[in-house]
Amino acid sequence: MHDRSELVAAATAILKENDRGSYTVPTRGLYPFQWNWDSCLSALGLARLDEGRAFTEIETLFAHQWPDGMVPHIIFHVEDDGYFPGPNVWQTGRPVPTSGITQPAVAGFALRRLVERARDRTEAERRALALLEPIHRWHEWFFAMRDPAREGLVAILHPWESGRDNSVDWDLAFERVPTSGITPYTRRDLAHADASMRPTKEQYDRYLWLVERFRSLGWDNAKLHDASPFQIVDPGLNAILLRSCLDLAALAEGLGAGEIAARNRAWAKAGLAAMEGLWSDRLGQYLCRDRVTGTLVDSASVGGLIAAFAPLPPARLRTMARRIETLAARCRYVVPSHDPADPRYDARRYWRGPVWLIVNYMISDGLEGVAPSVAERIREASLELIGTGGFAEYYDPNTGAPCGGGRFTWTAAMVLEFLAQAEAAGTEA
Ligand code: SER
Repeated sequence: MHDRSELVAAATAILKENDRGSYTVPTRGLYPFQWNWDSCLSALGLARLDEGRAFTEIETLFAHQWPDGMVPHIIFHVEDDGYFPGPNVWQTGRPVPTSGITQPAVAGFALRRLVERARDRTEAERRALALLEPIHRWHEWFFAMRDPAREGLVAILHPWESGRDNSVDWDLAFERVPTSGITPYTRRDLAHADASMRPTKEQYDRYLWLVERFRSLGWDNAKLHDASPFQIVDPGLNAILLRSCLDLAALAEGLGAGEIAARNRAWAKAGLAAMEGLWSDRLGQYLCRDRVTGTLVDSASVGGLIAAFAPLPPARLRTMARRIETLAARCRYVVPSHDPADPRYDARRYWRGPVWLIVNYMISDGLEGVAPSVAERIREASLELIGTGGFAEYYDPNTGAPCGGGRFTWTAAMVLEFLAQAEAAGTEA
């Protein structure tokens, strides 16, 4: 294990090398643009180097918000042929090209954390005030466009929106998405990462089919939900949104924006109640619901544990903490993105098994109040992984081997977060 100052220096170097001035790239080569939730979580790490720069990261993202309120998952700030699908595939018609789908709404959470720990509180509040309305409009967009029947929870229409691209969660629903009729394409990800650690060709065909379908509807969000054969209520994405609603509400309250606070509290209240419909007693975690069939998806993925990020009933959170202890007995490093006991588990394939530090951060944050020892165990495992595998995109839960891209921005940011938490708790990394 490296010592603390070495880790801080290494993480800082990665944040600097992936900094493009007003936004960061997740990593060189594999992801050469700005990604939505990468940026918001990376801002937490950036703030430890330069508070103003952290706000800029989120401001840049929201400068590319769509008129309807959506915040796209990729902003194509520059031309780069090293990534597919690029702007000519998306064709969203935005002044600066963007993708046409969104990602987990972690901005509200990140903003509150930036403000609460700011050394220059006045300046932080000034910049946060200007972001309240844009973030509020994004939340409003989610509930209007992705919950048309007012169930309290929102659906994703593309696996990329969950952030967990090739999770086992989507396998069954994906059978409804055709693989034929799409424009021939060449993947670029395989030039940067090992094919055994990435989604399959069949999955890519379906990702592209959905993009082409939505494009054919002119990216009109009023039409996309009902037209999509893929509509999944993901407990992870919903928990992040609900947590952000509450964090935005708390910030708004403090900054005198009572209406924004009230609206966000109401969404969170309805959503937290509706989460109960996703609970699985058998597994001790939440599950996805396929909105097309109305059924729960029998897939023990980490999406149902990211749910711990929202203030759900303490009994549910404690059961999830026990579930993580069960998973810990099945692999060396928690929290695997899929249950190792499931035959569909794949230790190195992206979201079908590997450990992700951002996931560990959100789960440990949520469990801190009810199961501090499990939260601590997750933080320890996270820092151990840096020792075995460096600042990777994700890690093999059995061996700790680094997987996917290297020198990853949000991994570096999370290491700075975990180290600061360890220091505050008086435990050494
Ligand atoms: N994660 C996706 C990719 O691999 C897109 O967000 O390209």
